[in-house]
Formats: sequence, C-alpha cells, structure tokens
Amino acid sequence: MIRASCKRLIEVDFPIAAVSAHSAREKATPKGHPSMLHLWWARRPLAACRAVLLGLLLPDPCDEDCPTDFKTTARELLAKRYGSVSKSDVELRELLLKFIGEFANWEHAANAMYLEIGRGLVKAAHPEETPVVVDPFAGGGSIPLEALRLGCEAFASDLNPVAYVILKTLLEDIPRYGNAEFKLEDDKGKVITVHGLADALRHVGKQVKEAAEKELAQYYPPDPDGSRPIAYIWARTVRCEGIGCGAEIPLVRSFWLSNKAGRRWALRRRIERHQDQPPKVVMDVFEPEDEKEVPKPTVQNGKAVCPCCNVVLPAVRMRAQLTTQSGGADVQFDHNGRRVGGALLLSVVTVRGGVQGRCYRVAESRDYKAVYKAKNALSKLPNTFLLVEPINPVRPSPNARGLSAVTRCGILSFGSLFTARQTLALVRLSELPRDLNIEASLRPALALALDRVVMSVSSLTRWNAHAEKMQHAFGRQALPIVWDFAEVVPTADAPGNWESGYELVCDVAEKWLSSPTIGQADQADACQSPLPSKSAGVWFTDPPYYDSIPYADLSDFFFVWLRRALSHHPSMNVRVDSKTGLTPKTEECVWNQSHTVNGQPKDGAFFERTIASAFREGRRVMRDDAVACVVFAHKTTEGWEALLSGMMQAGFIISASWPITTEMATRMVARDSAALAGSVHLVCRPRPADAGVGDWTEVKSAMEKRIREWLPTLVKHGVRGADAIFSCLGPALESYSKFEKVLTASDREVPLGGDPDAIEPEQRGFLAYVFETLSKEALRQVLGDAETEGFEEDSRMTALFLWTLQSTKANGNGGKKIAAAEESEDSDDKDDDKPKKAKAGFSMPFDTFIRITRPMGIHYAALEHRVIEIEKGIVRLLPVRERSQQLLGEAATRPGLEINLEDVKQMELGLMTQRQQEAALLAKPKRGQKPKPAPGQAQGEATFTTLDRLHRAMLLFGLGRSTLLRQVLETELRQSQRFERLALALNALYPEGSDERRMLEGVQAAMRAVK
Ligand SMILES: C[S@@+](CC[C@H](N)C(=O)[O-])C[C@H]1O[C@@H](n2cnc3c(N)ncnc32)[C@H](O)[C@@H]1O
Ligand SMILES: [Zn+2]
Repeated sequence: MIRASCKRLIEVDFPIAAVSAHSAREKATPKGHPSMLHLWWARRPLAACRAVLLGLLLPDPCDEDCPTDFKTTARELLAKRYGSVSKSDVELRELLLKFIGEFANWEHAANAMYLEIGRGLVKAAHPEETPVVVDPFAGGGSIPLEALRLGCEAFASDLNPVAYVILKTLLEDIPRYGNAEFKLEDDKGKVITVHGLADALRHVGKQVKEAAEKELAQYYPPDPDGSRPIAYIWARTVRCEGIGCGAEIPLVRSFWLSNKAGRRWALRRRIERHQDQPPKVVMDVFEPEDEKEVPKPTVQNGKAVCPCCNVVLPAVRMRAQLTTQSGGADVQFDHNGRRVGGALLLSVVTVRGGVQGRCYRVAESRDYKAVYKAKNALSKLPNTFLLVEPINPVRPSPNARGLSAVTRCGILSFGSLFTARQTLALVRLSELPRDLNIEASLRPALALALDRVVMSVSSLTRWNAHAEKMQHAFGRQALPIVWDFAEVVPTADAPGNWESGYELVCDVAEKWLSSPTIGQADQADACQSPLPSKSAGVWFTDPPYYDSIPYADLSDFFFVWLRRALSHHPSMNVRVDSKTGLTPKTEECVWNQSHTVNGQPKDGAFFERTIASAFREGRRVMRDDAVACVVFAHKTTEGWEALLSGMMQAGFIISASWPITTEMATRMVARDSAALAGSVHLVCRPRPADAGVGDWTEVKSAMEKRIREWLPTLVKHGVRGADAIFSCLGPALESYSKFEKVLTASDREVPLGGDPDAIEPEQRGFLAYVFETLSKEALRQVLGDAETEGFEEDSRMTALFLWTLQSTKANGNGGKKIAAAEESEDSDDKDDDKPKKAKAGFSMPFDTFIRITRPMGIHYAALEHRVIEIEKGIVRLLPVRERSQQLLGEAATRPGLEINLEDVKQMELGLMTQRQQEAALLAKPKRGQKPKPAPGQAQGEATFTTLDRLHRAMLLFGLGRSTLLRQVLETELRQSQRFERLALALNALYPEGSDERRMLEGVQAAMRAVK
C-alpha cells in the first residue's frame, strides 16, 4: 500500500508537452476511437485521461515513503521498453514520465507492450487491491474508460440518461460481451454462433438494414433509368411580400451541388411569369464554367431576397411565415397529393451502377408522390411516435444557445426537426430490432447506432458541395437552423446511412475489448453518490463549467429517439424530468437561465452551490489515502475563485496543477490564443479532520518560496507562458489549502479571493498574492532581476503579455494571431458558420490580463489605445505598425513625406505634453486601497517610454528609413542601457516569424553597426 504521506508522481512532475501534443492529435478521431460510439460534448481526450491517471496512481520514486518493491518492479517493467534502467531514483522518475508521455499516444493505447507495462506499474503500486476510480460527471466516459484500460475498477455516473446509455455500453457491455459467443439466427431462421460483440452487431445490424430496405424502398423510388437516390436537397420556402409579387421564395444558402475540382454542378433559376399568377422560380441543374454563373443566395443573415422582384423579406416576417409552417421542413399537399407549399425539392442526388460519382437532377412529380405516400403512412402510426415533446425556446445563457434558435422559426417540438419521411424511416429503424426479436444485450448498441443516423437524417443536415455528402446537424454545441437541407436516404449506400451508423459502433467494440475488468455505470446526481463513504482510491472528474454547455438541453435531441428505441429495455429504466419526460434539468449542475429551481432561473450562484455540494460528496466517498483530480477549463480564470474555494471548503488540499492544451494550433477557437485554450488538472488530497489553523506570514512565505523554486524549473523543462502560470497555481495553493483556515497575527481570516487592490490580507485575499508572486517571477525571468523595477509600466505589461502567450514546447508555435471575433447576439438564426475576419495582433481574455498585470502595479486604463485595445472582454496588444501614427505622425503614413531627427524630437515633445495633461487627472485612492498612479504615469515615470522609443526605432526600420534610424539609435544608446536591454528581452518574446520580431532584429543589427 502506498502511504498517504508518499507523493504521487503527478504531485511532483508531469510530461505536459507530450500529453498536450497527443491530446490535440487525438481530436482527429481515428477509426475505432471510443468517441465514435456517440456524440458527447466536451469529451476529454483519452490521452490526457490515461496520462493523468497513471500520474495519480503511481508513487514518486524519489519520495522517501515510496515502496521499494514498486521501484524494483517498475525498473523491470520499464526495461522492456527502454533496456536496462539505472539504480538512480531520479532517473526512474524521468523514465516513468517518459513512459507516461509515450503511452498517451493513441497509437500505443492498445499496444500489448505498453498495456503490459502500464497495467504492471499500476499493479506494482497497488499490489493488495485493485484501485477504484470514481468519476461522478462521467459524460462520454473518457476517464473511467482509461481507468479500465489500466486495470482499475471504474465507477462512472452521470445525471444524464443519454450519457448513462453511452457509459453502460462503453464500460459494461463492450468489456462484458466483447469476446462473448452469441447465438443468433441467420436469414433462414437457423441458429448460428457468432464470436464477439462487433461481429454480432454487424450480423443483426445487417438484418435490420435488409428489413428496412424492403419496407422503405417504396418511399425512395429509383429513377426509370435505374439510378438510385441517395439524398434529396430541399429548401424551406416563404412568400414574397413585395407589392404585386407574391412569389414563393426558396430559401437557398448555396446553389452549388458539387464544387470539386473537375466536378462542378450547380442549380440555376429561371423566372416564369403567367397572367394572374405570382411569378414562379424554376430550377435547372447545370455545369458552371465560372463562379459568377452560380446564383447568389436567396437568404443571408436571416433575411430573404425575392429572386423575382428583389424585395427583401425582413427576418421577423420570414420567421413569422416559417412559424405558420412549423419550420417548413415538410411539403404541404392538397387532398389530391399536389404540392401547394412548404419545402421545395431543389435537386435529387443519385448514383447509378457503372457511373462514377454522384448525379444531380431536378425534382419530378414522382418525387413528391413518394413524399406524400410517406406522409400518409406516418399519419397511420400511433401518436407515441410523433415526437411532440416541446423544445425550450429560452436561450440557456448569453454564451450558449442550446436548441433554442430553431424555435424562432416555429420548430417548437422535436417532431418538427424531421420531415415526415425522415420520421417514418427513423421510427422503423428504431422499431425493427424489437420486431426482429434481436436479443436484449445488443439493443443499446443498436440504439446508439440509431442516434448516429438521427444526427444525419434531420432537416438540419446540410449538403456539403465540396465533399458531395451530407454534413450532420451538430457541428457545434447548438442546433442552428438550416434553410436548404439534405434529406439523406438512410438505406442508401452513402454517408449518414444506417449501415455507417452501426459500423461505427462495431469499430469501437472491436478496438476496445481488451479491458481486464468490467466497469460500473449508473445514472446519478453527483451531489448524491450511491457509493459508500471512503470507497474511492482515485476521484477523478471533469465537471461542467458554468454555462459553457447545456448538456441536458442538447441531449434531448437524442433522448427522444433513445427512449423510443429502448422502451421496455432495462437500460431505459432511468430518471427523467417529471414535467416533460425529457432529460433531468433541475439537478443539472450548470448555469442555464431557461430552467428554474424553486422558481429561480439557474444562475452562476446555483452552479457554484451545486458544484460545491458535488465536491463535498466527492470528499465523502474518498478514502483517507485517496488522490483526486478535478479538470477545469482555463480559457479565463473567471470563476476560479468560486470553484477553488468550493473545493477547499469541501475539504480538499490542492497539491498540484497541470494545464493540458487540447486544441490543435490550426483549430483555435475564436478569440483564444493556443496557449490559453485547454484545461487545468487540479490534483488534490483529502484534508485531514485535524488540519488546524495556518499562520498567514508562514503560509505566504511558503507560497512565495514554492513559486520562486518551481517556476524556473518549469521554464527549464520547456513549460512556458500561461502553462507555467497554471502549473504553479496548484503548488502555490497547497500551502494555503492544507489548513482549515489561515489567520493573520491579529486573528483575521485571509480568504481565498478578495479585492486585489486592497492592502490588508484579510481584504485582499490569498489569490492576489499568488498572482503577484507569479507575475514578479515571470518578469524576473524575462527582464532579469535588477531590471524588473526599472522598466516602465508599458514595457512590463508588454513583456508579461507576450510571456503569457508563449506556449510550451511541442504545443504549437506560441503567440498565435487571434482567430476571429465572437459571434454576435443576433446570429441566432444565421446558419452561416464562417469566422469573421480576424484583427491583427496578439490577444488574451481581459480576465487573464488583469490577473497577471494588476499585481504588478500595471493599470490598463493608461495603456489603452496606446499599446493595447480592449473590446468585448478581449485585450489586444496593438501590432507595432498600428502605433505608427502615434509615434511618427504623418510621416509614417505618407511615403513621400521626409522627416529628420529634429522632427522626431518635436513629435516626442508633443506627445509628452499631451500625456502629461492626461496624467493631471489623478485618481484618488479609495479608503484602504493602494494609491493609484495617474493614468499614463507610474510614479516618477517618463511619458515617452523606453517601449515607445524601441517601437519607434522598429517602425523606422519597417519604413526603410535607415539613416534616420541610425541617428535615433545613436541618441538612444548614449542615453541609457534600458533601450538595449528591452530590445534583447522582447526579441526572446515576439514570436518567430512575426512582423515585430523581424523589425526588432533589424533594429538590433543597426545597433551593432552604430556601436
Ligand atoms: C464536462 S462533461 C464530462 C465529459 C467527460 N469527461 C467526457 O470525456 O466525455 C460534464 C458532465 O456532467 C454531467 N452533469 C451535469 N450535472 C450533473 C449532476 N448534477 N450530476 C451528475 N452529472 C452531471 C453532464 O451531463 C456532463 O456529461
Ligand atoms: Zn418578389
């Protein structure tokens, strides 16, 4: 047994660079990846879970309490991979970390040697009993899955019934039946033996496919020439309200059908005008030779343009008209089966034997006949299949839309998300396994396969002309309306069909059957665990983060089908929302204003209360010698205080923290830099009941010492920027969280958070001191000891800013240009996903900016518009070129205008006077707060700063004014050494390949010449 006093490996070190790289790579979801079992939002990469689990489970060989037997066995095991292993404990630690980094690779996840070593190490660390890993917010199951892979016992629960079915299949059914023998019937009713879950699923999946093909063929008739439809491309329609027009406007976002090189097909439109009738838009398929021949969209930014009279139909009218059609995905027929309105068939995509690629044709009356037939067939089905469950129209939060957007267009129930023919097909696919008497153990997996089809077979599925295939509904964590949608034929041989649905599940089952233990899945509220006290050896979880994802709302899209497909099946014996019968909303631990608890909308305070209660429950089920790990998003540090204090109040000691970047450099989310996109793994221990009270002076100095020692070590190991800050947080918090409370000499309690501008610790709070120490140390790294104090605010801010944006080696290039601005509020019904044009410069969330700069006495107001710009919660460091006008006046923008040294000096004087005037507006400090320097001027600070001078020189280089640059540099070098020191420091911080770096290198070369 590992003693509680013995540090676990993750409490002393962790290979974050390698694990981040593997985590990011894994997002490309290779074949058989467990995430393909079912969509779930914010899944943790398995790489990160596997590596963190090993770090939590293994002891640190350098700890004096580390069991000797573990070290002996670890050396033997690691020798299988690395040859002989030295006697040194430090080297053993290094090798264990190396192994963890390598094993994080998806390619090694099922490799026999890595598995043998990984499981062997866990067994050697816990020889007496198999460790129990508990995850109460298990979602798609990444954490418990990896626990099983490493030979642990896994207990996974989630409140959500969809997540529960995923967890049950992944952690119980696949390990249990993965290698089982199945007695199944063949086509002729003869019983045959099929080995393994994957093949059994393939066998029954095919039976469903054949039966569905037979039943549904009449609704997707082939063309007279034998071509078979694989998809129908529809447009919702509205009526033009232009005076005297009244044309039916097909809402089309793109008229392209195929936009591949060498295969270009599009729709073109013609207007037919007949007396006493509104004009009519008629479609035709053609091969465009030029982009310009393809008609412009008829719908943009939620407004429609009439192709007949060019009158614009405003968004509100468009929505009102669609509302009368329940969203307009269905065709409206008269009682003779003639189309009179609703969805308009733009084109039919077909395939034909012997012909390569897809063919496109316009709609024929037989196409509508088949739809009419399907509509009639659906009307004969029992009402239970009509998916009348309502969609909540209230937007969950300003940061999340959930399903609410579609309700603006009259899609008020789940049924309206599907056309009648789609509903009919999906109903039959959900019923057939029961009709065919497929055995119960295979049914949950088939239900998950059905959900794959549901994702592709709805009126929110687009036609992707570049790939010539459908693109499913959940491209992001919301359901946006799609005006022109593709209706995939679920029985055809094309992506999105039933076969590809069950094949994905089979791939997962095939790849994942080597678990030595079977997990346990449950549907449970994390605040009320079914587990007994002190039963978990590892409590590792990834809870929801405020309002970022409305899981329950989103999952209803699948739940409405799952509960039908699995009705009467034991796995559907789940708790649901008592009012709606949908997934539970009240207990869900999120901020979601579209739901209420005791009559109050669920807000940030609700989230904080609930998560704190889940932490308390976690503390209850943890053994005294357990380790815990909680994953938090770290895009911003907003809300951190609340979460951390919730954990501490629940009785956790925070002992380490590791950021893991999961975004590939190319897939940066709008407004985050690569270095700031990821999550922090906070490593914790249960605090003993007799932890007692800490002395503030000692706690503070222990924290400072920890950071001072730890930060340079991290930097030496290539951990840089925000990663380094977040890696220091855990160790910094340890000194504070190991006590029940911390008191000053005058017996005042020091809280975790407070007012960072206050003076007294009991008001300022511990975190402000942590960030102050961190920023100071970071600056010391960049500017050197003696210089830190000497530089002005803007230099310190720029250095800190660029330092924070640096990324850990192997994580990407660091200091990425910002990707795009946020989507605007009114984009609710825009189905246009293109990112807006990015602004140049480096950027970070305001909240992070404040955290690192405020403790250093940097006041952003003074720097705004000079060196930074703040917009929508994002701080942008102005590219030096954007400072040209400010620093060089017109000469910078008018190439012909010559300036000399005297002009430059005059400009400098003018700018100084202006800034001094601004600085006269001195802000009076509030009582009990530190006095603030006037904007633009820290005490005794120059108003034309070293940074201004350096940027001016860089601009002169950029403008090719080499003579003037030389003259300026002669003065600068004579005046002070700071100019040169700053140039050196910033050279290490401006990212390679950036404009700034190039200009700065030019200035440095010129400086050498001048000297
Ligand atoms: C960040 S996700 C977990 C993702 C998971 N680690 C994965 O890799 O797929 C958070 C989960 O918490 C669940 N959840 C929210 N409130 C809950 C509660 N009160 N009890 C249990 N689970 C809850 C959500 O359904 C969601 O699946
Ligand atoms: Zn018109």
